Amino acid sequence: MKILIKLGGTLLDAADTRESLTRDITALARNEEVVVVHGGGKQMTRFLAERGVESQFINGLRVTTPDVIDAVVKVFAGSVNAQLVTAFRVAGAQPVGLSGLSAGLVDAVQLDPKLGQVGKPVHSDGRLLNVLVESQYLPVVACVAGDAMGAIYNVNGDQMAVACAVGFNAQALVFLTDVEGVMDQSKTIFPKLTAAQARQLIQDGIATGGMQAKLEAALSALDQGIGQVLIAPGARPGIIRSLAAGELIGTKMVLQ
Ligand SMILES: Nc1ncnc2c1ncn2[C@@H]1O[C@H](COP(=O)(O)OP(=O)(O)OP(=O)(O)O)[C@@H](O)[C@H]1O
Ligand SMILES: [Mg+2]
Repeated sequence: MKILIKLGGTLLDAADTRESLTRDITALARNEEVVVVHGGGKQMTRFLAERGVESQFINGLRVTTPDVIDAVVKVFAGSVNAQLVTAFRVAGAQPVGLSGLSAGLVDAVQLDPKLGQVGKPVHSDGRLLNVLVESQYLPVVACVAGDAMGAIYNVNGDQMAVACAVGFNAQALVFLTDVEGVMDQSKTIFPKLTAAQARQLIQDGIATGGMQAKLEAALSALDQGIGQVLIAPGARPGIIRSLAAGELIGTKMVLQ
């Protein structure tokens, strides 16, 4: 089975979670065809804060000025990707660090001038992912994309995961994040969430920030034919094994 796993940045910040996730994904990749996409929102905010730059978001997307895009490349495609690739090597995998820029894996256009260099994926070419996975390499993709004319864009990690999942023809897309799943106003997790419910949560201001961006990405994955889309708690011990065993954890996204 072709599986795309998206790892949220907060999960990668803690050494113990990073180690257990990379160990369990490495084991999974022995039996399944796995591609990993990662974010790094928390690391990015910290990097900018250390340099006196305040992070600004619109609907969960980071406003990306020319200074910020340079930092995006350094943090996402640089330190966060290298740290994750290293953890996968320790776990015994053969990881290959990539970004959407690699061989045109994900091409993007500017999403909205108000957001600066934020890209919206418009095309993905999964051939590189297939070549790597068929040769037992584990692609580890940072959420940076571009185009053939020289642009570099900051792409939300969840949108990047969807673009890669579509290009790779993944049957399942799992967003591992730092919460137990999608929560309602009383913080109860939805075991299942329809597209209409997800839109309502956004409209009512219950799913905000990063979760708003994640739900929008998850809905576009369903629209583009990805069969299974799940939002699950990445820090829960043994989460990869539990999901592989078919346990219902987190929030399963469905069209209706
Ligand atoms: N209704 C909701 N249910 C669950 N989480 C929510 C909700 N509304 C907002 N959130 C926030 O969304 C966050 C998850 O999105 P966030 O973008 O921070 O993480 P990520 O996408 O996993 O990581 P990264 O952006 O680094 O890839 C949660 O930590 C939570 O604070
Ligand atoms: Mg996010």
